[in-house]
Amino acid sequence: MKSEALQHPPSHVAVIMDGNGRWAKKKLMNRIKGHEKGADTVRTIVTASREIGVGVLTLYAFSTENWARPETEVTALMSLLKKFIRTETPRLKEQNIRLNAIGNTEGLPADVREYVFAAMEETAGNDGMILNLALNYGSREELTSAVKTIASKLQKEEIAEEDITEAVITDQLYTAGQPEPDLLIRTSGEMRLSNFLLWQSAYTEFFFTDTLWPDFTRREFEEILSHFKTRNRRFGKTTCSLSDGSPQ
Ligand code: IPE
Ligand code: IPE
Ligand code: MG
Repeated sequence: MKSEALQHPPSHVAVIMDGNGRWAKKKLMNRIKGHEKGADTVRTIVTASREIGVGVLTLYAFSTENWARPETEVTALMSLLKKFIRTETPRLKEQNIRLNAIGNTEGLPADVREYVFAAMEETAGNDGMILNLALNYGSREELTSAVKTIASKLQKEEIAEEDITEAVITDQLYTAGQPEPDLLIRTSGEMRLSNFLLWQSAYTEFFFTDTLWPDFTRREFEEILSHFKTRNRRFGKTTCSLSDGSPQ
């Protein structure tokens, strides 16, 4: 039986999984160890989200800016990603979770792309939860590519200028067809978006915790979801007491 607070879970939870490097540093370990431990937390939070009944879970795994890290770290992250997909795909299938990569997948190394696409194909029929894995994701890249697509449609007269609405832009994003995030969590104490879901998070509730991602637990996740229930989402109106935004 779910606790009261976990009934009616948010439709979409997004997470900036930050602090792997600092976790490793604190333990006098290599940063890569932090990423490995972080992968265990991913497993925990994916399962928790599915059991709680979250509809979409979006995890920021690699940003368009993360290529600027030392080559050894980027290479290690890419192999960790392949390992994660290989070991987790059977569990995703068992849990009826559909994997969906968001980001510029064309820019990923070919072998990583193959793993990701194969896992997406294998889980395509699952409808228990969508797991958006943000890989080579950057909001500015996403919006720039949306603008290019719309500009090209305009040029070919497939769309008229007056028909370019917010919905048309939303439809060109990697998250097209999905609800906007209700809640965005960032671990490790940093209070910024780092180019994540800029358009989609216009009315998202933010929650920042000092916990480093490898130390983040299901218990803390559930506490944040409970706290989220108490937020008063107004969406620019005067009063809305329910966290799904419906007026009381
Ligand atoms: C988040 O942890 C994982 C990725 C960005 C891939 P970091 O590697 O950013 O950890 P810190 O911020 O250096 O502690
Ligand atoms: C954001 O974390 C990206 C991911 C969690 C994948 P970063 O560690 O890259 O962000 P900054 O550099 O601190 O803003
Ligand atoms: Mg970081």
